[in-house]
Parts: sequence; C-alpha cells; structure tokens
Amino acid sequence: METIIKSNFTVLNHPLIKHNIAILRSKDTSSEAFNMALKRISYALFFEASKYLPTETIKVETPIQEAENEVIKKDIEVIVAPILRAGLVFSDIAQTLLPFCHVHHLGMYRNEETLEPIWYYNKMKGKFKNPENTYVFILDPMLATGNSGYDAVHNFVKQGIKEENIVFMSLISAPCGVKKLQEAYKNLKIVTAQLDICLNAKGYIVPGLGDAGDRIFNTL
Ligand code: URA
Repeated sequence: METIIKSNFTVLNHPLIKHNIAILRSKDTSSEAFNMALKRISYALFFEASKYLPTETIKVETPIQEAENEVIKKDIEVIVAPILRAGLVFSDIAQTLLPFCHVHHLGMYRNEETLEPIWYYNKMKGKFKNPENTYVFILDPMLATGNSGYDAVHNFVKQGIKEENIVFMSLISAPCGVKKLQEAYKNLKIVTAQLDICLNAKGYIVPGLGDAGDRIFNTL
C-alpha cells in the first residue's frame, strides 16, 4: 500500500481507503453500512500501525523442511487503548490481529464548551511490568483538537512507556490535532486514513463525517 509519510505521520493512500471514506462521510449512510466501511479501513490501519512491532526469528517445521521465520517478539507487552466510546470500533479488529494484546479502556468525553477532555474511566494504572518493552496503540477514529489524544499519550508516557513505542491510530485527522500531538511528543507515531482540512467552531472535523460515536452506535 502506498502511504504518505512525514516524520512519524502516516496517511494511508489507497483507492479502497478513499472509497470507504466516501461511504463514511455521506450523511445518508446507515449505521450498519458505516460500521462495515469502518471495519474495512481498520484492517489497513492496523497493518500499517503494527509494522513497527519488533520481531524475532524462530525455526518452524514445514511439511517440506525446517524454515526460519520472523514472529512478533514474545517478551513484549502490547496494549490496545481505545478512547471511549468511538475508539471501541477498532477494538475487536485489534484483538483479531493482535490476539496477545491487552485492552485498556480510556474513558473520556469532551466538554462541549472548552473542548477539553473529562476523564471518567482509566483501567490501566500501575499495570506495566516492563514499560521499556511495552508497545501501545491508542485508538480514536477522530483526531480533532488533539486534546484527548494528548491526555491519552501522556497517560502512558508518564508510566515510562517510550514515545516511539506508542502509535496513535485514527480514521480522520485534523491538521491542528496532528500538530498538537507532534509538538508535544516528537517520537510519537500517528497513523491515519485521511487528513482533513480544519475544525469548525464546535470542534468537529471539516468536512469530516460528523459525530463518529453517534454514527457507530446509531444514537443520532
Ligand atoms: N469527534 C467526532 O466524533 N467528530 C469530529 O468531527 C470531531 C470529534
């Protein structure tokens, strides 16, 4: 897959991604069709986001002969951290592709006036036995102001997880959100399917797709 990469910031660039983003953007798309399109894109996002995981070589007996093969290193810990609620849409695919991962939910909602996150749930305090060898995927379909993303990354960095071992994975990103994360965390990786234009006065991504949580969970 051809991707656009600017220092730790990757935008997927593929006709199937664009095709499915058009489905997601349309206000006429049902919640069911929305979730299907999002799942299709999620696989591509995860393959890109997880390409940084370290591997080791093992020996495998094929029916023909012994082979050497790379596998994900066994002594690492992989954390998948969906930001509730919209980030949940990526969780089951994360568990399908990374069956050894631990899922840590980050509960935040947005104060509609200040656009600052308000935490209500954090399941991951004090859990890391080996932060140096821990790899984190933070999941949020919409990287808008970057305020909740900033808090989510901080939550892991302050526990000793290396910035370069954290990937922020989003479906659509706004330039100001990307800038906020990149300025705060120089080595953080960001993987997104689409870079949009800006935010409106209410903090929604333009042109975006509206409220991702409402569209995923059919609560419009
Ligand atoms: N969250 C959403 O669901 N949509 C946006 O456009 C911005 C934040």
